[in-house]
Amino acid sequence: YREQIPIDHGFDHSVALLLEGYQFISNRRHRFQSDIFETRLLGGKKAICIAGADAAMVFYDEEKCTRHQVAPKRIRQTIFGEKSVQTLDKQPHEHRKQLFMDVMNPKQMQQLEKIVEKQWKVFLKQWEQKKTIILFEEVQKLLTISACRWVGVPLKAKELTLRTNQLVSLFDSAAAIGIRHWQGRRARNQLNLWIEQMVEQVRKGKIQPNEESPLYRFVWHRDEQGKLLPPRVVAVEIINLLRPIVAISVYIAFSALAIHEYPDEKGKLMEKNDQYLHMFVQEVRRFYPFFPFVVAKVREDFLWKGHDFRKGNLVLLDLYGTNHHPSLWKKPNEFNPERFKNWEGGLFDLIPQGGGNFVKNHRCPGEWLTILVMKISMDMLVNYMEYDVLKQNLKYSMIRMPTFPKSGFALSNVRSK
Ligand code: HEM
Repeated sequence: YREQIPIDHGFDHSVALLLEGYQFISNRRHRFQSDIFETRLLGGKKAICIAGADAAMVFYDEEKCTRHQVAPKRIRQTIFGEKSVQTLDKQPHEHRKQLFMDVMNPKQMQQLEKIVEKQWKVFLKQWEQKKTIILFEEVQKLLTISACRWVGVPLKAKELTLRTNQLVSLFDSAAAIGIRHWQGRRARNQLNLWIEQMVEQVRKGKIQPNEESPLYRFVWHRDEQGKLLPPRVVAVEIINLLRPIVAISVYIAFSALAIHEYPDEKGKLMEKNDQYLHMFVQEVRRFYPFFPFVVAKVREDFLWKGHDFRKGNLVLLDLYGTNHHPSLWKKPNEFNPERFKNWEGGLFDLIPQGGGNFVKNHRCPGEWLTILVMKISMDMLVNYMEYDVLKQNLKYSMIRMPTFPKSGFALSNVRSK
């Protein structure tokens, strides 16, 4: 049987999307009392918006939905980069994605753990010399150094601020128009050039990265036809490691906010119980907004829950809405790490970093890395340092994408303990 799905009438709702931010889809889901509705976006294209675990399952069924030629140019020119893994499909995607999964092996994760822990300690010493610091900005620098070390990218001390700002600008410009978008494009061009030259030098033997480093493995990776990737594509994928590691700063700022707003959490985290730390980090990833949704296109016509999905229609999966869906989460708008106590995690319910299978689908390959870096950072914040939280504007916008506590979380009187 076929059903008429609710329609968000009008020629194009792209402006509403920018005005309503994270709540664009959920506002309409509430209005229509439906987890599926149709709207028009990106120049009047038909777009079906869906939310919930069953919706995520359909979205990540690669026979039904595809990413090929979906990302608009302005996204490829900033956050993604051209010809990146995000834009590939099926066999070529799986082959490239396996490379990302391979560099996330346990040995590399241990390596990262050491690097990040050390940088926290180095930065903490510097913070002790200062009256106040903006945690969000400091952690961005800390993570830029850590990411470069881990990936194998040489970074000079005097380059740190420039490269940090460029990497931040890439994810900060994802949903931006005007000046923020242009800053993102400039940063993209400059970073591509920087890494592309590095790739060429590695190939000529002028730079010799450790053979286990992601830089080495990406530079010498061969596609399914046995060919090395073009230097520009290697650069884009290396930046696909650096940029999101720096973006973990957003979650660290939100975690600091959670500790501040729910003071009981601090005491629980001080018990150094890894299980609780894990639950806390999961709840931060569920609760706070990061990516609002992901977009695909219908590969071939199909019928789902009585609704027609036509080849070429856009499909938007509501990530933020699924992480707050009342049929999946009790009291979804309460911050409560306990909900993860005996959680039997599925592949389609907690989806701040996408859902489904890591290799076959576009689920974020950096999910475990993100959790690891957040855990180290929480341990440092709670067990290795003390600080005062100044009076400041800690609100975060639900419209600006990506969002973060407005003040960047200013700390004063930082001392180690
Ligand atoms: C994909 C979120 C950290 C690398 C994604 C996707 C989301 C996401 C929503 C898209 C899923 C989809 O298209 O279905 C996040 C968030 C992070 C984070 C919120 C926390 C800051 C990382 C880290 C890395 C990483 C640390 C690598 C070191 C990637 C890559 C893709 C991706 C390469 C593309 C995967 C593909 O297309 O197959 N991420 N991510 N991300 N992420 Fe992350």
